[in-house]
Amino acid sequence: MAIPEDVIREIKYRNDIETAISQYVNLKRRGKNLVGLCPFHSEKTPSFTVYPESASFYCFGCGAGGDVFTFTGLIENLDYIESVKLLAERSGVTLPQDGYDDSMQRLKNTIYDINRETARFFHSHLMSPDGKWALDYLLGRGLSLSTIKRFGLGAAPDSWDSLINHLKSKGFSVNDMYTANVVGKSQKGSFYDRFRKRIMFPIINIRGNVVAFSGRAMPGDDKAGGKYVNTSDTPVYKKSENLFGINYAKNNCSERVILVEGNMDVISLHQAGFNYAVAPLGTAFTSEQVNLLARYTKEIVLMLDADAAGQKAIKRATQLLENTGLEVKVVVIPDGKDPDEFIKKNGPERFRALLEGAVSDIEYKLLMAADGINLESDDGRLRYLSAAAEVIATDDDVMTRDIYIGRLCEKYGVSRTALTAKVDELRRKNYKMRQKKEISEIIRPKFTKDDINPERRRSPKATAAEETLIAVLLQHPDFYDNVKEKLPPEKMVTGLNRRIYEIISATIESGRSLDISVFSEKLLPAEIGYLVSLQNSDKAGKNAKTVLKDCIEVILEEDIILNNSDSNNSSLEDWANALQNMASKKKKGN
Ligand code: CTP
Ligand code: MN
Repeated sequence: MAIPEDVIREIKYRNDIETAISQYVNLKRRGKNLVGLCPFHSEKTPSFTVYPESASFYCFGCGAGGDVFTFTGLIENLDYIESVKLLAERSGVTLPQDGYDDSMQRLKNTIYDINRETARFFHSHLMSPDGKWALDYLLGRGLSLSTIKRFGLGAAPDSWDSLINHLKSKGFSVNDMYTANVVGKSQKGSFYDRFRKRIMFPIINIRGNVVAFSGRAMPGDDKAGGKYVNTSDTPVYKKSENLFGINYAKNNCSERVILVEGNMDVISLHQAGFNYAVAPLGTAFTSEQVNLLARYTKEIVLMLDADAAGQKAIKRATQLLENTGLEVKVVVIPDGKDPDEFIKKNGPERFRALLEGAVSDIEYKLLMAADGINLESDDGRLRYLSAAAEVIATDDDVMTRDIYIGRLCEKYGVSRTALTAKVDELRRKNYKMRQKKEISEIIRPKFTKDDINPERRRSPKATAAEETLIAVLLQHPDFYDNVKEKLPPEKMVTGLNRRIYEIISATIESGRSLDISVFSEKLLPAEIGYLVSLQNSDKAGKNAKTVLKDCIEVILEEDIILNNSDSNNSSLEDWANALQNMASKKKKGN
């Protein structure tokens, strides 16, 4: 299962970590390192650090860390081998053909094939005489034949086994169909078509693969059981990370993208020439979707339904989009319509006007803050200004704040000094709260050090010494010779650090260089994060040799104590002797 090490090194060399990560994260230089907002958890102050010197990254907030392969794997949702392959492809390195296990990739390819064949099947059913009911429906909703083809829309027949039989005839196994989630399994274990008598929308990812389906029931179909049936998460699909329409929008959205609620909205807008619309897939908008969009666009226009749910969704989305560097605009569609209905009724020109009239997220929130307040009364105006100050205080740009403060002062006749003071006070308060929250998040990251190394509890002291030892060895592999005689691997107290130490030994003994990628294959992602945090810590200090010596001493002492107290056959006396021994050794040592 191994890709030769020199090939890995070549790929890594050609995929400089700073450049690779910059494609996804806005990095700022800080000393010899770079920092940015972590793409793997939500934060407002950057704790995501890139270390060009050791070609690694680590997030102090969530504990994610590793090399360029780990990063690519986490952000593109790939396993180790897949990210090696992707980076090889990106940098023009040819991989040797066999010798490594790509069963996961093969399964994914099979699912892509099943999905593509399924989409074809539904589309040709739609175009056949038997699919007239569905085609009539789509044409009746104003879609042209070319739009229907472009989006690959289809119809699922009113049958429990048409798709299964079709896919069988193409040579696919029912188990793979089940994994692709186009087929369901009854309690008795028999398989059936999941989509029946529905309008089918294939969901296509940025690379152009059909990854899932959304099936809409026909209006008035009481037996359908739910307006939409969607593909659940599969090895090729995670709905929180995909957006409907992204396959087309990604080429047209360098300036702005429109976020709408439903598939039909996306399709209608594309047909009317607004080919940069996307929709989340039957879930709330997620931070993964924000990250995806941030790679392609500068501005995001939220065009959600005007009902209460839509307003709530806008609030959530603006929060997610804060400090992502994306410009955020909001459009409220008049008369509680969705974009599809609006454009059908009013035409593309009125829709364009609506789009041009998009207000900034602050303006939108300022509008909403006035809701239900009587601005004619002094009391009402005061209440409104306090609410407005809260809105303005959330913006991190001093010029933007100044502009809105100016507008409000003019409109409501308050002094600029007073409103500015109010906003600044709120900002100080928010800042403190934010810090408190982020500190508590740092104390409670996704993986605590105890989750990663659960044996820490046995001896926190030895664990700390092991960590320092590993950190120093990663930075000064040349000191390994001093360490190896005094500290055989089995003396390491915690299993994780023993494993890491063994990999270090084996790597150095075989004359290879000690690079994070030698660990990538053998450790879990969270463990690699832990390792990178050690590698980049300054535990070594100036006097690495002395530090190493102290560490070894502590580990050996703790090993004796633990082994004596752990085993029942050693007498209390032996233990006391061992302790005494140590005490006298220590005196001599100093
Ligand atoms: N949705 C879903 N499951 C539901 C309801 C909605 O997955 N039970 C998702 C679908 O992706 C849908 C979107 O939420 O496209 C918006 O829902 P809705 O406004 O009800 O549907 P529309 O797409 O507007 O459908 P139509 O115009 O055909 O009624
Ligand atoms: Mn609709």
